[in-house]
Amino acid sequence: MTSEMRGVLVVDMGTQYTQLIARRVREAGTWCQIATPDDALKTARSMDLGGVILSGGPSSVYDEGAPNPDTELLNLGVPVLGICYGMQWMCQTLGGSVEATDTREYGRTGMRVDTAEGMFHGVEGESVVWMSHGDEVTGIPEGFTTHASSESCTYAAVADQARGLWGVQFHPEVTHTERGAEMLQNFLARVCELPGDWSEESIVDREVEKVRALVGETGEIVLGLSGGVDSSVAAMILDKAIGSRLHCIFVDNGLLRKGEREAVEAMFGEHMDLDLTVVDAADRFLERLSGVSDPEEKRKHIGYEFVEVFREEAKRFTNANFLGQGTLYPDVIESVAAHGGNTAVIKSHHNVGGLPEDLEMELVEPLRELFKDEVRRVGRFMGLDSTLVDRQPFPGPGLAVRCLGEITGEDLDLLREADRITTDEIEAAGCHTDLWQYFAVLLPVRSVGVMGDGRTYEKACAIRAVRSTDAMTADWAYLPQEVLQRISTRIINEVRGINRVVLDITSKPPGTIEWE
Ligand code: XMP
Repeated sequence: MTSEMRGVLVVDMGTQYTQLIARRVREAGTWCQIATPDDALKTARSMDLGGVILSGGPSSVYDEGAPNPDTELLNLGVPVLGICYGMQWMCQTLGGSVEATDTREYGRTGMRVDTAEGMFHGVEGESVVWMSHGDEVTGIPEGFTTHASSESCTYAAVADQARGLWGVQFHPEVTHTERGAEMLQNFLARVCELPGDWSEESIVDREVEKVRALVGETGEIVLGLSGGVDSSVAAMILDKAIGSRLHCIFVDNGLLRKGEREAVEAMFGEHMDLDLTVVDAADRFLERLSGVSDPEEKRKHIGYEFVEVFREEAKRFTNANFLGQGTLYPDVIESVAAHGGNTAVIKSHHNVGGLPEDLEMELVEPLRELFKDEVRRVGRFMGLDSTLVDRQPFPGPGLAVRCLGEITGEDLDLLREADRITTDEIEAAGCHTDLWQYFAVLLPVRSVGVMGDGRTYEKACAIRAVRSTDAMTADWAYLPQEVLQRISTRIINEVRGINRVVLDITSKPPGTIEWE
């Protein structure tokens, strides 16, 4: 193992903030993995472990079934930081006491740091932190001392420095905690003594090594290449790992945006010299989707049809027992429903759920541990064209989830034209740089209009533009009126079959980014 791979284990004790903690750790240049309380010890032992972070969570340590990892986690000889519930669990486990507070603390709170040691190096004195708790530690275990307190929380931060055990009642991972990033950075650099040099190069080297070990000397990989940033970066890593034993398949499923197929053929077939096969599958996808209007059904049909195509293609090669996918870390975490409860499935993302049990191909997912921004960094590092790296995400099921209800070839053509106009105008005005996604959606309603002297009775389309950092939440984005005006005029004039354009002003939550 190389020193760059030394990392931190983040144990998900049930909070929404687990991914945020992981992001903060990664931003500080340290690799990390997330595990459930039940898997924590096993995962910790499988890593080159530099430290453990126990997240917060909504439970009380006294609740039946409250997250309760193996206490051996505190004896692995590496520093541990407990946040909120994590701190309470750690203190209670080591002989301290935890009680419900009379005065619940929520939101911004003034806190005073009394020492300048360990995770509080350089952040001593008053600062604002984010608190959100009902219970709190009321008695600290032997060996612990207090490092910070607030008006209503005596033990806002405690530590047993000799053992490297730290606990904070507030949330250093959220931006409302003014000096939270410095505190986490201190924990990683000063307490865990991690070098903070986890780099794009080390990510690539590590993944290449893993792929080689998995696939062996003769194995071949079939990879669905969509031309999006994820599958493109995955292709580059797999290419580096096994070269000509990688076979990229681009499926033209008839659900693509305008010009997409040609762009992918030019980029990967001509410039990058990958073994690229373009499969013309529009007819079979549309046939399979015929009469299907339920969004989940549509997604499942599309997922299965993709797998069918890959399976058929794999048969052309002697040893293609592996299916490559550009699955990202948030997809993995979301689909695992990390914290015990029955987290609702909002949408089945077809590169995670939906694979048949009799797939008979092993999955190779070189981006499985990365966030989107990290994938983009790796892409840039590997020399991927910036037009591709910074491209807006496009869902696996393609235009099917933007063409509401039952899909027809004619509707897809309308949507392709409307979407091209929408993206062209937004990009021409330069307003796309801080947007996460911007696109058109074809609605299954018709309304009356008037053009020239004639009556029209045609479909409507919606314009959707959102800002987001990770697609978990999103805000609808303001677009200048002139841009909206141009989009509307052009769509109605140029796309025969659409006579009304509306603007979607719904954030996520309560909406989702895609309409289906
Ligand atoms: P929602 O609509 O759930 O979308 O807010 C969140 C982000 O995920 C993209 N998306 C998908 N990506 N396969 C994918 O690879 C899918 O099935 C899928 N569904 C949605 C969506 O475009 C947005 O960026």
